[in-house]
Amino acid sequence: MKKVGIIGAGKIGGSLLTRLAESGDYDLGVSDVHAEQLAPYAKKYGMRTTSSNLELAEQSDLLVVAVKPWDVATVMAQVSPAFNGSGKAVASVAAGVSIATISENLPLGTAVLRVMPNVCASVGLGSAVVTANEAGRASVPMVLEIFGHVGDVMELPERLFDAATALHGSGPAYVALFADALIQAGVREGIPRDVARRLVVGTIEGTAVLLKERSAHQVRDEVMTPGGTTAAAFVAMEKAGFVGAIYDGVNAAAEQSRGLGK
Ligand SMILES: NC(=O)c1ccc[n+]([C@@H]2O[C@H](COP(=O)([O-])OP(=O)(O)OC[C@H]3O[C@@H](n4cnc5c(N)ncnc54)[C@H](OP(=O)(O)O)[C@@H]3O)[C@@H](O)[C@H]2O)c1
Repeated sequence: MKKVGIIGAGKIGGSLLTRLAESGDYDLGVSDVHAEQLAPYAKKYGMRTTSSNLELAEQSDLLVVAVKPWDVATVMAQVSPAFNGSGKAVASVAAGVSIATISENLPLGTAVLRVMPNVCASVGLGSAVVTANEAGRASVPMVLEIFGHVGDVMELPERLFDAATALHGSGPAYVALFADALIQAGVREGIPRDVARRLVVGTIEGTAVLLKERSAHQVRDEVMTPGGTTAAAFVAMEKAGFVGAIYDGVNAAAEQSRGLGK
């Protein structure tokens, strides 16, 4: 059984830990600076927990680092001795922190992977992309399998990671913003808030299923009767710069991600 250690039992690390524990396929360990974040994993799943990142690294075949981007360098420096002459690999989920930057604090030739997941992993419907340095290539199948437990996962070259971070990493927040605006619009038209919420959430859920089967244009055309209500809405939304705002938002997020890596 592969030994997988996760540093950082927060939103992403926690989602991964729960799903991997439920699969029963891995020998899991977790570390975090907050002891109270670790207790539930020891209690519910009998997982190995520690406040020492180095101890966890020593006990793991694959180390997943799920701390904020600005904490990555500190964590890598702490765990570095465990990678000396070992066959271990480390996978970081941090936005904007490149393989080159991660490697600066690790022994030469360490297997390093990057994963960009999203928060939908917490309900098993996440999306994630994976990339690796030369030494990490052999660990790609294992990392694809691990993140496959929390959703859809695919390989992507590292040069596109900032774009992917902006697209699907931040994506759930854009959809939540859109959902909130739609609910408020329904309320403005007189629909009770709880009914508006139910209608909007159901619409997003159903549309996601439709979009798996057909293109966005096909879905649009099925709804949009010539001269009808949806066509009127599209004209008004376009005049207000709806599509342009999305391009600009994703571009701003990608630039922000590029900045994190500097
Ligand atoms: N959340 C998302 O939607 C999302 C999506 C894609 C990628 N990511 C990436 O995933 C990473 C984790 O994000 P998150 O939202 O899961 O963060 P989070 O909820 O803040 O979880 C990180 C956890 O690690 C702890 N920690 C900080 N420094 C540590 C250290 N030196 N050793 C051990 N534990 C430490 C944190 O404690 P403190 O709270 O005290 O710092 C916190 O408990 C980030 O780099 C982010 O870029 C997040």
